Amino acid sequence: MKTSMRSDYCGTLREADCGREVAVCGWVQRTRDLGQLIFIDLRDRTGIVQLAFDEKSDRAVFETAAACRAEFVLRAAGTVRERSSKNKDIPTGDIEIEVRTLEVLARSDTPPFAIEENSSVNDTLRLKYRYLDLRRPDMQRALAIRHKVVKVCRDYFDEQGFLEIETPVLTKSTPEGARDYLVPSRVHPGKFYALPQSPQQYKQLLMLSGFDRYFQIARCFRDEDLRADRQPEFTQIDLEMSFIDEDDIMGIQEGFIKRVFKEVLDVDVQTPFLRMPWREAMDRFGSDKPDMRFGFELRDISDIVKDCGFKVFSEPVAAGGSVRLINVDGHAADFPRKKIDKLVEFVKTYKAKGLAWARLHDGAVTSSYQKFLTDEENAAILERAGAKDGDLVLIVGDAKNEVVFAALGALRCECARQLGILDPRDYKFLWVTEFPMFEWSDEENRYMAMHHPFTAPMKEDEDKVLTDKANCRARAYDIVLNGTELGGGSIRINTPEMQEKAFQALGISEEDIQERFGHLVGAFRFGAPPHGGLAYGLDRLVMLMTGAESIRDVIAFPKVQNASDLMMACPDTVDAKQLDELSIAVTRSED
Ligand code: AMO
Repeated sequence: MKTSMRSDYCGTLREADCGREVAVCGWVQRTRDLGQLIFIDLRDRTGIVQLAFDEKSDRAVFETAAACRAEFVLRAAGTVRERSSKNKDIPTGDIEIEVRTLEVLARSDTPPFAIEENSSVNDTLRLKYRYLDLRRPDMQRALAIRHKVVKVCRDYFDEQGFLEIETPVLTKSTPEGARDYLVPSRVHPGKFYALPQSPQQYKQLLMLSGFDRYFQIARCFRDEDLRADRQPEFTQIDLEMSFIDEDDIMGIQEGFIKRVFKEVLDVDVQTPFLRMPWREAMDRFGSDKPDMRFGFELRDISDIVKDCGFKVFSEPVAAGGSVRLINVDGHAADFPRKKIDKLVEFVKTYKAKGLAWARLHDGAVTSSYQKFLTDEENAAILERAGAKDGDLVLIVGDAKNEVVFAALGALRCECARQLGILDPRDYKFLWVTEFPMFEWSDEENRYMAMHHPFTAPMKEDEDKVLTDKANCRARAYDIVLNGTELGGGSIRINTPEMQEKAFQALGISEEDIQERFGHLVGAFRFGAPPHGGLAYGLDRLVMLMTGAESIRDVIAFPKVQNASDLMMACPDTVDAKQLDELSIAVTRSED
């Protein structure tokens, strides 16, 4: 972009520009001093261009160039010319700028790490100096892609008749789901706002107000443990629609995904996406966000081993759990004993007590369990696995089915990862539907809403809301991409009667319903249209589109594992005066 200081971006100059007078601005990537010649690679957000200085031309310019160091900020003006030795590795490699004017706009201390692609510098240092880390080309690219995704999102939903409406960030705590971030009120001592975990209730109320297609790029806050795909502060593409059913919502979303992948990555995504009920996803993949790029599906062998003499298999079945397997077909040779031992340790991190295995290699079967079973039982297991020579069968049994699913679900992904068969450019989308309405929480000792308490039950399960919670299914759906939950949503409850029933099922007392959710239940008395929606994790979408390993790599200023910002050094203590104004006394502190 042309400015009073600059005619061109560094990375945009090509052979066709030879002979042009240009002015570029940027940071010194590196300098090479050959005695009579000096070369400086100058970097801006578009790339690098070579600046050339000759001792025989202007002496002052030459000396200024000789004094330049990494990360100095320069303005250089001169003529574009063809290079004598071309560099095929960079887009500007055919040309250089013969510099006539050189200004040092700012000097730089030696940076704590080199500013280069795919830096191997440790994360702590990178995040402490995030402003330098963001100068790296991969970070520049990621944030440019993020911008484009948001732009396509605004264009697409605008064209589809959606209105972008902002909702408050200072709101009310509705303790369901993650912990809230609280903000004390000065004017109302002892009272607190909560930062929104999502704009859920506001967007539903907007449907009641008649804005029948809403969207927002919404900042959300959740005080939960960090992971590669979780930050305490993250961004949703949040949507809600009225007078719709699941097909309408999914159709609009598939249109969005198709458009964003085409416009941003030039990738053609096939629609409609596959749909799979939650039960089937768990049974086949051990996960409600299955990675569909490979097989290794789960199979239940509880019926074969329930009466066997091997307690490791028979006891879980007797206790109401199950024994299941995966067949890492064709890959026995890739998993010698040592590697299998590591897989045994791997499943233990998912609370499995162990991992039984059978390796079919070179016409022989070696196995950790076969000597405890009859020939018939062994044969039946391998038959159920569909096992042939060259396959590896891995088995987990547990009294808790959740443990079996979690361990095998993670194990199939781990095997695929170790085998290197996961292509990040192979985008396999899936809708997971018919989620359970409730899930049991050992910690809370009660049923919790699996999605959130505003989700409608499936029509055929409406009478189970109070009487058969374990088998009540919800009109909830997740959009899953390559093993990551990209977004989730549901058709909502829209009558006060059903909403109260849902709260009741969650063990929320009548008094608490009024206190915490009175505004919503009350609003439903004034004509709530049938409505539903969905929210994507924008950070996750961009992570998968850029092939990043963590959402940290697509957020300009993320937090680290312990939820702190290393660059700003926060959270931090505040003045006693500020606390006093807020009527807050600190009873425990970190140091
Ligand atoms: P849900 O809680 O499933 O639904 O969140 C929707 C999507 O937001 C993303 N997400 C996160 N991303 C980064 N860090 C986090 N801590 C984090 N938590 C969630 C995920 C997730 O799929 N109000 C409902 C949506 C609705 O029903 O319309 C909601 O927030 O990608």
